[in-house]
Amino acid sequence: MKQLRLFLKDKKTWFNTAILEFVTEGKEALDVKAGMFFMLEAGTLLKKPISVLDADKKSGMVKFLVRRVGRGTAFLYDLKPGDELNAVGPSGNTFPDPAGRPVLLVGGGSGIPPMFFLSRRLPRGSFHVVYGGRSKSDIVPLFGKSVSHRIMTDDGSLGLKGTVVKGVRKIMKDKPEFKNALVFSCGPEAMVKALNRAFPQMEHFTSLERYMGCGFGVCLGCVVQTSGGFRRVCVDGPVFNTRDLEWNNGNEN
Ligand SMILES: Cc1cc2nc3c(=O)[nH]c(=O)nc-3n(C[C@H](O)[C@H](O)[C@H](O)COP(=O)(O)OP(=O)(O)OC[C@H]3O[C@@H](n4cnc5c(N)ncnc54)[C@H](O)[C@@H]3O)c2cc1C
Ligand code: FES
Repeated sequence: MKQLRLFLKDKKTWFNTAILEFVTEGKEALDVKAGMFFMLEAGTLLKKPISVLDADKKSGMVKFLVRRVGRGTAFLYDLKPGDELNAVGPSGNTFPDPAGRPVLLVGGGSGIPPMFFLSRRLPRGSFHVVYGGRSKSDIVPLFGKSVSHRIMTDDGSLGLKGTVVKGVRKIMKDKPEFKNALVFSCGPEAMVKALNRAFPQMEHFTSLERYMGCGFGVCLGCVVQTSGGFRRVCVDGPVFNTRDLEWNNGNEN
């Protein structure tokens, strides 16, 4: 984990979401894996945790996708090319190596960055993305035609109408090789729980999005209860095997 300075090179927006492309001279900090995040300066007392969307150590490029929900994310959304930012990271763990098993990458809303990151690194044909949102405005056009992906919206304004659970069912029906796939997910906890309820037989790892204070293991603001006791999402996660999560112990967002 390092402190580094980011320079905004390019910015694209899609409704309430911005894709921010930075460059940094601290290239060695860009040795990142899917699920890892940086704490970004956000005009607030505390930095905000934001997952890496993509990174390239050689060129010093790091991209983030930011959904404007409050003061900190609005600050990031409003940045302009040429602006500079302090960041600390990378922090957190990553998803396990699928070791040849097919993988369903399920992202909900602003939980899509780790799934996009994985889609750029896993072998083509070994994965299928399911990207869900409430409506078209939640679905950032990230994936090209060459990437197997299914868009799901609650209101049917883009892709298929329904939740990501329906999307996963459809893929399993159309492509039986995904019936025993690993599930990697990131999104609202309601989505993660719905996936677990619908597919209890599937091994499912998720990247949790908890409120964070310090981001480096000291404040205990991000703890989650697991079968092995309390764990800090910022340093023990954010990726957990959902089998180990004790969801119903009053520790929900
Ligand atoms: C490991 C990790 C990775 C993350 N990666 C990303 C990312 O790549 N892109 C991204 O846009 N966000 C990401 N987040 C979420 C992001 O950090 C929060 O949305 C952010 O901290 C909100 O700060 P704020 O000051 O804008 O909003 P606040 O002022 O703190 O909150 C404003 C409103 O938004 C609601 N809210 C805030 N955060 C959440 C949340 N996580 N879930 C539901 N409601 C919320 C609050 O209830 C409140 O009503 C990540 C979080 C974690 C823990
Ligand atoms: S955010 Fe402080 S311990 Fe995790």
